[in-house]
Amino acid sequence: MTQANNEKPILEIKNLNKKIDGQTVIDNIHFSIQKGDIYGFVGSNGAGKTTTLRMITRLIFANSGDIFIDGHSIKNDSILALSRVGSIIENPAFYLHLTAKQNLILSAKLAAVKVPKPRINEVLSIVDLKEAKDSKVKTFSLGMKQRLGIANALLCYPSLIILDEPTNGVDPCRLRMNIRHFY
Ligand SMILES: Nc1ncnc2c1ncn2[C@@H]1O[C@H](COP(=O)(O)OP(=O)(O)OP(=O)(O)O)[C@@H](O)[C@H]1O
Ligand SMILES: [Mg+2]
Repeated sequence: MTQANNEKPILEIKNLNKKIDGQTVIDNIHFSIQKGDIYGFVGSNGAGKTTTLRMITRLIFANSGDIFIDGHSIKNDSILALSRVGSIIENPAFYLHLTAKQNLILSAKLAAVKVPKPRINEVLSIVDLKEAKDSKVKTFSLGMKQRLGIANALLCYPSLIILDEPTNGVDPCRLRMNIRHFY
């Protein structure tokens, strides 16, 4: 979905390169995405989709090139750049012995921006986990964990949401019901 506007891009990738074990995995990619746009990466297994998303969220570093989030370089200004990014990269990781709500409270405490208390219940509602909020994550199904991951990604009112395989295990009815909350 593309909206034409003259604002600075929310995401700008400039000449990004990544080698893993001497093999070129990402070969000089560059693109930009405007606020409000929704894009999907399409490519065969091993094409480098997750590697690119891991670089955008600074879980791994590029060999060269840079990434700008809302104009901030993740190399030189990483805290500001990442402060408004919500993400799920592959499987979201949670403390299994804590409840859904306790996990989100912990995430909120660790966040670079202040998360108001009511936001926790708000994101749990968005992903339809309000009734299970006090259950330990170890009792959750795959789809429930994935939905908690989406709640976690939405916690800080992100300007940029990065979702790698967010629909793993999530039934289509729930996706249809709640997708409107993403934008
Ligand atoms: N930690 C790693 N060690 C070695 N090779 C890796 C590592 N991470 C990724 N690769 C390699 O980098 C390439 C890109 O992997 P990546 O996970 O980005 O692919 P993908 O497009 O996300 O694939 P999929 O559709 O299966 O999720 C693959 O050839 C993969 O084997
Ligand atoms: Mg992948």
